[in-house]
Amino acid sequence: MTDRLDFVVKWVAVAVVAAVVIVGCSENSTPDQSVPETEADAAGSLGAEVYANSCASCHGADLRGTDKGPSQLSIVYEPNHHPDDAYRSAIANGAPQHHWTFGDMPPLTGLTGDEVEAVIVFIRAEQERQGFEQ
Ligand code: HEC
Repeated sequence: MTDRLDFVVKWVAVAVVAAVVIVGCSENSTPDQSVPETEADAAGSLGAEVYANSCASCHGADLRGTDKGPSQLSIVYEPNHHPDDAYRSAIANGAPQHHWTFGDMPPLTGLTGDEVEAVIVFIRAEQERQGFEQ
């Protein structure tokens, strides 16, 4: 009777180990290739597109400015001096010349709320990645 119980216990143990190995292997052998785009990624690519279409002509494709507008990497635009609301306001209302001598920034009509938020996320990420000019 004890022998028989031993036998059953051993085989249950073997079955459990086998099941764990099989499950483990099948998990490893089927890597998840559909990595979902995170919200930040989605905002990043939309933001880059909005920036290229609506801001780059003055602020530069590399954000470093042109003869029509200042560099967005200037320390003037760090978040404590120009918070995100300054961006929302500049886009909605324009920005009269006051920090530089490029002239006024005109209001940019035609951007949706999502596009405005995405372009701010994009600029903040670039400011972080490239660092501010001193
Ligand atoms: C037609 C040229 C032009 C375009 C297009 C433009 N800007 Fe500007 N922007 C300027 C100029 C010029 C200034 C500087 C005004 C000053 O301070 O003298 C400026 C200033 C700003 C400021 C600072 C505003 C403030 O409160 O001092 C922000 C933020 C800004 N731009 C963001 C953007 C973003 C984001 C876009 C695209 C969605 C954009 N700009 C498109 C010309 C432009």
